[in-house]
Order: sequence, then C-alpha cells, then structure tokens
Amino acid sequence: MSAPRGQFSSKLGFILAAAGSAVGLGNIWGFPTQTASNGGAAFVVVYFVLAFLLAYPALMAELIIGRHARANVVTALGSISRNRLTHWIGTGVGYYGVIIASLILSFYTVVAGWMLAHWFDPIADVLGMSAASEWLTTNSVSRNLLAGGLFALVNMWIIARGIENGIERWSTRLMPMLLAILVLLIIYVLTRPGAMEGLTVYLVPDWSRVTEPGLIIDALGQAFFSLSLGVGTMLVYGSYLSKQENLPGIGVIVTLVDTSIAFIAGLLIIPSIYVAKHYGTKIFTETGELIAGPDLIFQVLPTLFESMGAIGLLVAFAFFALMTIAAVTSSISMLEVPVSTAVEQTGMSRPRATYLIGSIIFAISSLLIFNFPALFVFVIDLTTKYSEPLLGVAFCLFAGWVLHRDKLLAELREGSPQVEKGLFWKIWPAYVRVFCPILILITFFHSVSG
Ligand code: PFF
Repeated sequence: MSAPRGQFSSKLGFILAAAGSAVGLGNIWGFPTQTASNGGAAFVVVYFVLAFLLAYPALMAELIIGRHARANVVTALGSISRNRLTHWIGTGVGYYGVIIASLILSFYTVVAGWMLAHWFDPIADVLGMSAASEWLTTNSVSRNLLAGGLFALVNMWIIARGIENGIERWSTRLMPMLLAILVLLIIYVLTRPGAMEGLTVYLVPDWSRVTEPGLIIDALGQAFFSLSLGVGTMLVYGSYLSKQENLPGIGVIVTLVDTSIAFIAGLLIIPSIYVAKHYGTKIFTETGELIAGPDLIFQVLPTLFESMGAIGLLVAFAFFALMTIAAVTSSISMLEVPVSTAVEQTGMSRPRATYLIGSIIFAISSLLIFNFPALFVFVIDLTTKYSEPLLGVAFCLFAGWVLHRDKLLAELREGSPQVEKGLFWKIWPAYVRVFCPILILITFFHSVSG
C-alpha cells in the first residue's frame, strides 16, 4: 500500500525548494574557490556554458521523468520502462542513485556540522565562554559528532514533516534569508581594504587557461554537483510538482538562480580572501596556490573576522548562518531521495522512514568522522567525481530512449501548450538522446584518464 503523495502548493514553493537544493556549500565554497584556482572569470564563463549546455538538459531529464512518473526514483525509472530489461536496469540505476544521494548526505552532514559549530562560536564569545568557544572551533571527534548529529536531526525533523509543511515551508523561509545575508555581507566586505584586489582576481579572466582539460572537467563536475544532478533529487522534487507548471521554464529559472548565486558568492569569498591578505594573513600555499580547502573557511576567514573587532563577531555569525542555511536546504533534498523510496516501496510511515534512514546515514557520517580524511576523500570522489556524471548520463538516456516519446512530449506540453513553439521543443528531445550523453561521457573519460 502506498502512502498518499505530497505536492508543492505553489510554483514559487517548488522553485525555492529546487533552488534551495541546488544552492549549497557547492555554490558558496566550491564555486568561488574553483574559480580562483582556475583562472578567474575564464572559469566562470566555461562554467556558465556547461551549466546550460549539459547540466540544464540533464536537469530537465530528471524533472520530466519525475513529474511523469509521480514516484520515487526507483519506481519512476522502473515504471517508465517498456520491457523487462530496461525495467531491471532502471530499478538498479534508481537504487544506485539512492545510495549515492545517501553517501553525499553523509559527508555533507559532517561539513555542515563544522559550519554549525562555527555559527555558535560568536555566541559563546559574546557570553565570555572561552572554553566552549575553543571546543567549537577546534577540530575534534566529539565536536564533529555532536555538531554533525545536531545538523542531521534538524534535517530529519524537516523531512519528517513532508513536502508542503517540511520541504516547501522551510525552503520558502530560508532561501530569502540566505540571499539577504549574502548581499549584506558582500556590501560590507567590498568596502574593506584589499577587496578590490580580490575582485580583480575574480573578474579579470586568464583566457590562456580556458582550453585546459582540467578546467573544463572541474567546471562540469561543479555544475553537476551544484545543480544536485544525477542522484534523483530533482526527479523526486519534480514528482511533487503540479502538472500545470511549465517545466522547461521552471528548469531555466532554477539553473539561473543556482548559477547566479554561485557567481554572487564569488563576490563575497574572493574579495574576503584578499581583505585577509591585506591584514597580513597568508593566503597562498607553499606551492603558490590560493588556499581553498577547509583552511580557507576555518582559518583564513576567521582571522579576517577577528581583525574586524566587535563587528567581526556579527560578520562571523552571519557568514556561518549563511553556510548552515545553504547546507540545510540542500541536505533535505538529499534525504528526501531515500525516504521517498522507502515510504513508497515499503508503506512505512514518513516520520518512521525519515528517522530510520537519517540515523543510518548519520552512522555513515560517524564512520567518516572517525576515519577522517582517508575515507572522507574516497566517498567524495566516488560520489561526485564518478557517480554523479554517469548517473546523469543514465537519466538522459532514460528520458530520451526509454520513456515513450509520445509520453515525453505530452509531459512537456502539460501546463504549457505554448512550449511547442519554442526552441526547447525542437532541440531538447534529440539532444538529450545523443549529444548530451556523449558530451558528458567525453568529459568524464577525459577526467578519469587524466
Ligand atoms: N547542490 C548542492 C550544493 O551545491 O552544495 C549539493 C547537492 C545537493 C548535491 C543535493 C547532490 C544533491 F542531491
């Protein structure tokens, strides 16, 4: 017996939820630092091209399959299949997606826990609790378990409430806050000394880097991760979308919001690094690369906040609130993938499935915390570098070849008969069958063999 399915109550609710999934640590941390180490604006241009050329079509494949099948990723891929072979392959791909979404959530939770701990730190400082502050900002197993666990609980609490009352309500509340904090922080940072040097590094392109295969691969991986593709997240969100909405248009909005916020986040992060440099912080590694990893977020930026005096506490509080919010709206979308599958496949209640699966995923997070960083790096590579692009190809092939063409076109027409007159209608159905999978595969094999 399957439980009644939820639905987003409005178009805006869906857009904020899908954009909330897309806009995450990948945008605010990943994108700016990849840009800085890959030739500045040259990377931004390649990224935008790939986001619209390869990631957007793959996003549409997920949204269309999801809304058509109105089911979780496993049932959806199995049910659109027309013969036994594709049914089994579809089911297998669906389960693989569920596993990869869960694994991404397991490491994302650990990183989100770091953000949460640093968010609490300014409060401890204001209250004069120096031991607590020290504990919150020092990397330890106990801190990571507690902060990651708290984050995981918040995530489960939202997902247990369902689509409209959980995902939609919280995305609608948190996304405007995220944007407001981001803009305020940018305005503040851009007025600090040194910011303009950072802006130049970010916005003046080094075109000589554009043809480097490494840059293109980084940009593709970043685009897939940033749009939450390849693991069924967008498919499941699409399955809760009303048939009245224009899918290609909504897909464009989500892609635009995601790429724009990544770009805007660059206006905060890169200038901040150079303001820190202005105040004497070391921002390059021994090999002359810009510091980009955890050291950037948890050492370079905190030194910068400290140098700002009292207002620095407020800025630090706002910055880590921004990071935590971005992580929450992405994490809920990851948890929804296994939870929707469990609820619909076993008939289990949503809260029960949520707390059960959420706990299993947190158990994996704990393994990562204890085996940091070896296992952590392995899981990140397995999920984002190898699995997401290949699963993205599978979704394109299922939309292009397995889903009956008449049904595909009918799904596109639903809610937007005018779509037949547009470019999308003429190009996408053929593009998603052949060109898009081939282009993704070429880039992928380049990256694996390189
Ligand atoms: N898009 C998120 C980010 O940019 O941080 C990460 C993500 C969310 C990846 C959801 C995969 C996913 F299913």
